[in-house]
Amino acid sequence: MAIKLPFIKSKQAKQSPEISTENTPKHIAIIMDGNGRWAKNRGLVRVAGHKEGLSSLMKIVKAAVKYEVEILTLYAFSTENWKRPKSEVEFILRLPKEFLEIYLPDLIANNVRINVIGDMEKLPEYTREAVQYAIDRTQNNDGLQVNFALNYGGRHEIIQAMKEMYTDLLDTKLTIDKIDEQRFSNYLYTAQMPEPDLLIRTGGEKRLSNFLLWQLAYTEFWFTDVLWPDFQEADFSLAIDHFQQRNRRYGGLSN
Ligand code: IPE
Ligand code: IPE
Ligand code: MG
Repeated sequence: MAIKLPFIKSKQAKQSPEISTENTPKHIAIIMDGNGRWAKNRGLVRVAGHKEGLSSLMKIVKAAVKYEVEILTLYAFSTENWKRPKSEVEFILRLPKEFLEIYLPDLIANNVRINVIGDMEKLPEYTREAVQYAIDRTQNNDGLQVNFALNYGGRHEIIQAMKEMYTDLLDTKLTIDKIDEQRFSNYLYTAQMPEPDLLIRTGGEKRLSNFLLWQLAYTEFWFTDVLWPDFQEADFSLAIDHFQQRNRRYGGLSN
């Protein structure tokens, strides 16, 4: 049953700092958290927050295009989110279709390529179909790549990579002496992608919640209390601005 939701205006957009596109993170990962609390603060049902989160999503995709980010990986639904009430899970899993129905033309106009990381098989058919259609329609675009993490779990990803690697060992497509970090990475959903330079988590929690456990080894973290539906381009540029001032040593010494 479709739930009718009121239209709520997000907070006033703040002024974005001037961001230079030099030394911008190539790959940004975002844990889009705080939708439920955003709705609760307004006396609304939790799902109203998920719905409102869609407009933040499009704003941030456009900002990423503007800042010449190459890859944006967005945590939309975790392998643990199935624990939520069935009605909320269903609502969330309808959102990709809804998002793409509204924004696919705009994404195409912005030369965005859509991709999914996560276990698609367990998703409802309407979600898979909508996402697959967008993947196909945008496959030749060579601008920003947007990875939607749907039914994604870092541990699940590592286990499935291990199983595939083991199958290749049994099939003698691989030998033990060839296994190293690079080779293992190629079995992950993010194979061939650079690791995230910056992780943003909105909503105030300071944890990973099973997101990109392998890939975040040397990522810079940016946590903000801003709830996802309130997250604006100005907040995004603030995170990038701080990233640009960080000294990434990777265990070595600074120059
Ligand atoms: C994040 O917002 C969206 C998903 C997990 C799908 P939440 O729904 O977790 O919002 P809070 O954290 O309860 O406020
Ligand atoms: C992480 O948020 C998952 C997504 C944003 C999709 P959660 O709200 O599920 O994380 P926890 O439960 O606070 O760790
Ligand atoms: Mg949450």
